[in-house]
Amino acid sequence: MLRLSNLHKRFGQVVALGGLSLHIPAGCIFGLLGPNGAGKTTTISIAVGLLAPDSGEVDLGHGGTPERAEVRRRIGVAPQAIALYDDLTARENLDFFARLYGLSGPQRRERADALLARVGLSDRADHRVKGFSGGMKRRLNLAAALLHDPPIVLLDEPTAGVDPQSRNAILEMARSLRDEGRTVVYTTHYMEEAQRLCDRVAIIDRGRVLAEGTVEQLVGTLGGSSVVTIQTDEGDTRIETADPVGELGRRLAAPGVRGVRVERPDLEAVFLHLTGRSLRD
Ligand SMILES: Nc1ncnc2c1ncn2[C@@H]1O[C@H](COP(=O)(O)OP(=O)(O)O)[C@@H](O)[C@H]1O
Ligand SMILES: [Mg+2]
Repeated sequence: MLRLSNLHKRFGQVVALGGLSLHIPAGCIFGLLGPNGAGKTTTISIAVGLLAPDSGEVDLGHGGTPERAEVRRRIGVAPQAIALYDDLTARENLDFFARLYGLSGPQRRERADALLARVGLSDRADHRVKGFSGGMKRRLNLAAALLHDPPIVLLDEPTAGVDPQSRNAILEMARSLRDEGRTVVYTTHYMEEAQRLCDRVAIIDRGRVLAEGTVEQLVGTLGGSSVVTIQTDEGDTRIETADPVGELGRRLAAPGVRGVRVERPDLEAVFLHLTGRSLRD
């Protein structure tokens, strides 16, 4: 559905992408997980045709490249740097972007109303964006990406700088877009979000894909051991194991067990394994 092949991009001396390749299957939420500066925004910008790669190719399905307007119409992007007019109201912003997409007057009103409701901003429709919270701006930014009903949606750090309530609304929105059959590309530096939300994840660092798969595959192959802790009256025993279920089964039969705890590795452990660094650094 979306294929990026061997993308290279430099900004002066900085290598933003050093041969990044990805195949993003249709109908899933595909996470690009990596720390700040990994190349996520550069990847999104090239995928949607806002930025030209130095070399490499983008295929948005059936050989379509983002230079072609009819191909670009199949994608919606909610940029990391929020693209809204502060002095316009929520509805005026959506109307402006809908005009760019060439929607007719009645279509524009209908789409704007539906999307304002969908992102929970109907009661703020006629307020200027200037007074909006970070979360409200993010939600409107997302609505603007959906006006032309695109089958591919790219969300670049859609939860940056938002309150927990907006964060949940945005995660829920990404799921519902997927459930409607759209392909969702979701960038984040929050391991927890990628883990909770994404059907597949590519871990990227320094402009390259280090690993790609389902969360389960990545954690299973690259996350390292689980830790089983057995609590008894004599104290806690901590066991590192690749087979926490088997370990529990054997240990639970012993007398005096008061409690157990299982800690499974997460995507943070995968990143650490791959790079020797923490995602949070
Ligand atoms: N317009 C630009 N000019 C110069 N350097 C840039 C520009 N855009 C990105 N970079 C650099 O390219 C690298 C990748 O950036 P970016 O794609 O924004 O990463 P991410 O979105 O993962 O944080 C970083 O080192 C960043 O500083
Ligand atoms: Mg970015």
